[in-house]
Amino acid sequence: MFDYQAPSQLLKDKVILVTGAGDGIGKTAAITYAKHGATVILLGRTTKKLEAVYDHIEQMGYPQAAIVPLNLDGAAEHDYVELANTIESEFGHLDGILHNASLLGERTPIATYDITLFEQVMRVNVTSQLLLNQALLPLMQKAKHASIVFTSSGVGRKAKANWGAYAISKFATEAMMQLFSNELVDLSPNIRANAINPGATRTSMRANAHPEENPETLATTEDIMPVYLYLMGDDSLNVNGQSLDAQ
Ligand SMILES: NC(=O)c1ccc[n+]([C@@H]2O[C@H](COP(=O)([O-])OP(=O)(O)OC[C@H]3O[C@@H](n4cnc5c(N)ncnc54)[C@H](OP(=O)(O)O)[C@@H]3O)[C@@H](O)[C@H]2O)c1
Repeated sequence: MFDYQAPSQLLKDKVILVTGAGDGIGKTAAITYAKHGATVILLGRTTKKLEAVYDHIEQMGYPQAAIVPLNLDGAAEHDYVELANTIESEFGHLDGILHNASLLGERTPIATYDITLFEQVMRVNVTSQLLLNQALLPLMQKAKHASIVFTSSGVGRKAKANWGAYAISKFATEAMMQLFSNELVDLSPNIRANAINPGATRTSMRANAHPEENPETLATTEDIMPVYLYLMGDDSLNVNGQSLDAQ
């Protein structure tokens, strides 16, 4: 596991947006960030799940969260502008984005991959990240230090048979991270961009991808949080353009 011990108030006074915050890794990251002092903006497509995370954060006495129901598949440019306006009026700035939401798509050969599904996976896993960054960069420029964290995958570095659109979307995510990290050096040196490869982790996406596997043998979402904390907090101020393994 990535070795990092976060100070208990690592993210105090930071405002952090987490996509796909209602389930799996995103849910645990949102709660973990709140536990370390952040005000977390919970973005996802299933309001009920976001409300459950919101309630948990409230019950634990962490800073009050905010909920943004948004389906990254159907969202248009004006939805992202509206989101930026809301964050601006509520918080005035943004200290971090965790791009976590993703679709697995089908585990089938690329030669016969369904094009409608391909485009959907690319919209959710790739295009939405660009639209979010473009809309939210001005708010991150207002932060003292800001961190953009993308979520990669093993198949985003080496494509394996039958990982289809998902693998392509994760290669594209690695490229987007590198582009932002290289360009922000001049454009906005207060913002850094990195990626995390979570590794095999006990979530519903993993169970769908590997139905034959015993989930009990896998790392839990809590196990992989050290690298999520490290890249979001100021201990990684000098880290830019890296793709780190959580495990
Ligand atoms: N688990 C692993 O072993 C593993 C390994 C490598 C990489 N990853 C990456 O880690 C990240 C988290 O994966 P996970 O395993 O936690 O997956 P998960 O349990 O399936 O959670 C994915 C989250 O993304 C949300 N989401 C999906 N489509 C969306 C859309 N159109 N609009 C808004 N939100 C949407 C889901 O919302 P709903 O809850 O409403 O469906 C869910 O909250 C992903 O980027 C994944 O590719 C995971």
